[in-house]
This record gives sequence, C-alpha cells and structure tokens, in this order.
Amino acid sequence: MKGRIANLIRNSIKNPSYALQVGKNKVISLTNLDYHLLNGYSFLPSVIRIDLTYRCNLKCKICFEFGENPQQTFKSGKDYENIPFEYLKTVIDEVSFFKPTFYLSGGEPLLYPGIIELLEYLQNKKLYCLINTNGVLLEKYARDLVKLGVDKIIVSIDGPEEVHDLNRGKTFKKIIEGIKVIKDIKKRENRYFPLIRINSLITPFNSEHLEDTVTMAEKLGIDSLTFQHPMFSNEEVRKGYVECVKNDKLNQINILGFTYEGGIDTDSLLRQITNIKSKKIKIPVNFYPDIKINEIKYYYSDLNYKFENKCLSAWRKVIITPEGKIGPCVNHLLDNISHKSFREIWNSSKYVTFRKNLKKNGLFPSCMRCCLREY
Ligand SMILES: C[S@@+](CC[C@H](N)C(=O)[O-])C[C@H]1O[C@@H](n2cnc3c(N)ncnc32)[C@H](O)[C@@H]1O
Ligand code: SF4
Ligand code: SF4
Repeated sequence: MKGRIANLIRNSIKNPSYALQVGKNKVISLTNLDYHLLNGYSFLPSVIRIDLTYRCNLKCKICFEFGENPQQTFKSGKDYENIPFEYLKTVIDEVSFFKPTFYLSGGEPLLYPGIIELLEYLQNKKLYCLINTNGVLLEKYARDLVKLGVDKIIVSIDGPEEVHDLNRGKTFKKIIEGIKVIKDIKKRENRYFPLIRINSLITPFNSEHLEDTVTMAEKLGIDSLTFQHPMFSNEEVRKGYVECVKNDKLNQINILGFTYEGGIDTDSLLRQITNIKSKKIKIPVNFYPDIKINEIKYYYSDLNYKFENKCLSAWRKVIITPEGKIGPCVNHLLDNISHKSFREIWNSSKYVTFRKNLKKNGLFPSCMRCCLREY
C-alpha cells in the first residue's frame, strides 16, 4: 500500500495531469455511466496500447502470438511488420489532449526502429508511457530509457533462472543484467523513473515457483510484481469463436495461439496464491486477472466455465496493430487509423454496434481467458 501511494505521488509530481487522469478514470470505472447509459457510445479511452511491431527476438513456448501454435493470419502483411511512424504521430497529436496512457508492446517493442524517436515524441507531449518488454535489449537502451523519463517498464520474467529459461530460452542472466544497469543509472543520476515491474506469466514450467518469484523480485529491488494467468484455448473454443463471428461484418481475426493441455497443479497454485496474498511483501504484488480463489481451478480445467459475462475493454482502451488496425482488442479490430482519424473511429457506427452487441449478447467463446479483458 505504502509503495503504491509513493508511486502515485511521484507520478503526480512528474506529470500533474497523471493524478487528474487517475482520478477521472476511477470515477468512470466506479460508475461506468457510458456502459450503462450511452447505448454503445463511450467516453474517451484511458489506455492506448500500440503493438509497434510483429517482430520478436524470442520464441517463447507459450506466447499466444509466437508460441508453438501461432495464428499465421495475425502476422500476414510483411509490409507492416513495424507500424509506420507517421501513423503514430498522427494518433498521438490527435489524442494527447485527453492524456491517455500509452502502453507500448508487440512483438518486442524495443526492436521497433523508431523507438527512441517515439519515446522523445511522447515525452515532449508529457504523456504517460509504459513499455512491456522481454528485457533482452534493456542493457542496450538503459541510458535512453532513463534519460527520456519513461514512466514504467514492464519486464517479462517467468520466475527464477531455471524456470524462466524453460519458456523463454537462455535469457534470464541478460535480462537481470539490463535491470541492474537501469537501477545503477537511476541511482547515480538520482532519478526515480522508469519504475520497473516484473510481469510473470504463469505456465506449466513455473507454476510451482510463484513464491520463489516473489523472493526473487524482492531481492532485485524492483517496484512491483504481477502474476499473469495465461490466455489459452483449444480447438473447440477456436471453432466456437469462428462460428460466433461468421455472420459478423466486423472482420474479426483470432489469435488464440496457445493451446494448454494440462501441467499446472491447481491445488498447489491455489495454496501459493493464498500464501502470497496473506504474506507481508516488500513490494506490491497483483494477480491479473484477479480470479476469485474458488474459480481458479475452473480457469485451468474447464474451458466452458462461465466467468462473469462482461468486458468493458471496448469502452476503456484501444489497441493499434503494426498495420494500423484499431479495435478494443487484437481479436476484434474494427477499423484502420491509416485512413481515418481517431475521432471518426471511436464512436463510429462500427464501434457503437460492436459495443451494443457485446453488452447485449455477452462475451465471445474466446473471451473467457483474454488478458485484455476489462471488468
Ligand atoms: C505478447 S508480449 C509482448 C511484449 C514482449 N515481447 C514481452 O514478452 O514482454 C506481452 C505480454 O504478454 C505475455 N504473454 C505471452 N504469452 C501469453 C499468454 N499465452 N497469455 C497471457 N499473456 C501472455 C508476456 O509474458 C508479456 O508480458
Ligand atoms: S518475447 Fe514476448 S512477443 Fe516475443 S515470443 Fe516471448 S512473449 Fe511473445
Ligand atoms: S474479453 Fe478480450 S477478446 Fe473479448 S471483447 Fe474483451 S478484450 Fe476483446
């Protein structure tokens, strides 16, 4: 709690519009007035996630994009491996007045050729910026990330070295080295940013090591830790999804790339999560999504289990892909920023229809384990 408040205060001093933004988003998410009352129209989003590139320097086994069962449709169009920088500038110029959070991801965002130019552009506009990276290139970019005052770096580390490397190849040592270099520069130059968060994806490789991961994060002296339950599917879910959207003119694609076929002991997972939640830990630790304790076993064992049938993503955030496609999530891309302005797209008839259908019909079969879901 103390850590969270300290971070909020520091963020607000660095960027006064941040505190206003956090307050406004809190009120919106507590009332959800637009969701309830505006018949498919929405207030402006709080997060703009940009997948800068489809390129990646790793091939993690359980990655939904590049893992063992990648959906090739998703990576079609080689011309658009990287999002053109002029698309980014146009969108940033247009949305900067409402101060959304920019969440940069990919593929691997540090492979984007214009990454430094983009960070400078965001910094000049005083926009809150997060980067979700696999950490392999952290050492190379450490000085720039500190100098440019990136707000937060979310580094994917799946646990202690032996288990992390099983999913991500032999990368652990390099990532830790990168984190240490950033921490050293911050210390030397008396800088508070970027904050560093570890995002640890729960996999069959690391599911017995959650408590070791907490100890590792505390020792590393990073600022926060999240555990992410994996997004996965099977053939049945994929077929259900295709059936569900076949008459839909909204042109959805489907990236349910990772097929989970067991290997996580849910009793043990439950025990570890209960321990972590009841322990005194030096840094904030969160689970995402924060599934109710009694529903965890269904998350992993029953693909037909009905979790809450609701998602507010289409009201709260947008995702932009390397081709410039835009929508509430990668499974549902509704338009393209290459030929329309954000303002034209956000409350367009396509978007409004999508929101109305989602609210009326509930979620698609593929949504139950979606990591972009908003409650
Ligand atoms: C797709 S990656 C892109 C950014 C960068 N390449 C990285 O690995 O951090 C974004 C996040 O998704 C997580 N991720 C990968 N596969 C996933 C899955 N099957 N379910 C949920 N999250 C997943 C990664 O651990 C990472 O933190
Ligand atoms: S580094 Fe990220 S994008 Fe690349 S394969 Fe791993 S999880 Fe996927
Ligand atoms: S749950 Fe995920 S895939 Fe489904 S609508 Fe929400 S963000 Fe999109």
